[in-house]
Amino acid sequence: MRARKIIIDTDPGQDDAVAILLALASPEIEVLGLTAVAGNVPLELTARNARIVCELAGRRDVRVFAGCDAPLTRKLVTAEYVHGKTGLDGIALPDPTMPLADGHAVDFLIETLREEAPGTVTLCPIGPLTNIATAFRKAPDIVPRIAEIVMMGGAYFEVGNVTPAAEFNIYVDPEAADIVFKSGVPLVVMPLDVTHKALTTRARVEAFRGLGTAAGHAVASWTDFFERFDMAKYGSEGAPLHDPCTIAYLLDPDLFSGRHINVEIETDGRFTAGMTVADWWRVSGRAENAMFMGDVDADGFFALLTERIGRL
Ligand code: RIB
Ligand code: CA
Repeated sequence: MRARKIIIDTDPGQDDAVAILLALASPEIEVLGLTAVAGNVPLELTARNARIVCELAGRRDVRVFAGCDAPLTRKLVTAEYVHGKTGLDGIALPDPTMPLADGHAVDFLIETLREEAPGTVTLCPIGPLTNIATAFRKAPDIVPRIAEIVMMGGAYFEVGNVTPAAEFNIYVDPEAADIVFKSGVPLVVMPLDVTHKALTTRARVEAFRGLGTAAGHAVASWTDFFERFDMAKYGSEGAPLHDPCTIAYLLDPDLFSGRHINVEIETDGRFTAGMTVADWWRVSGRAENAMFMGDVDADGFFALLTERIGRL
């Protein structure tokens, strides 16, 4: 069976890093490239971190493009308080030696979607949606050529993690998210409602460390670092591995369940900007535009993730 072609749009971030490793470890997936965006940390660091992860996976061949360094209209909000100063705190890894690919990430998205056959490329945005929305604005012709967008972002029953109403990826650039959610591209959304059920535990982290590999050690060290924030905030045993849920869905969609519903993005709210207004009970009459996930087989998710990381 032919590998599924994807582009990961990312703001590494420890959980982004685990998602990228999962994709690179899986033969069912062909990563056409990584497009870095400003989010957890500024663009210079997300573009650096994406290359560090590729080199950790032994994949210097993967093209990494730098994209947008700020949201469409708002001031950039970052999350060093969660991810650390470098965005990949938890383990000291060498600076990347592979160069950035030439050209802007937005142009790579446009050119790739124009070159690849329609309906063959899946976009996996796991950070703010600035690059994706900018590409849609610059080249509307690419929108119908996209097979699917499988993204991490939003929240409904779980409410926000950066404000009482908004999840970080959507909050950073609500205007970009509004463009993507209104685009008509088939959307699969992994909100906090589901990612907060993909929690690390001591046993799960030790299973990564027990792989005895550089990748396993890095994943364990990243989650050890990353989880301190969530454990203090939520009183949970571990941290939610948000972004790998997107790649795990590509590998085994039956791990997840949700509803195909209408989801709108609040862009004007004084207290609710960046909220994903998910019509879970279908009361609005608005057109359905997203598969909004609500549950995950967490044991199955971590079994898949650990087995695949063990291949690197
Ligand atoms: O809210 C979680 C999301 O914000 C994840 O993608 C994490 O990496 C951060 O970008
Ligand atoms: Ca991310």
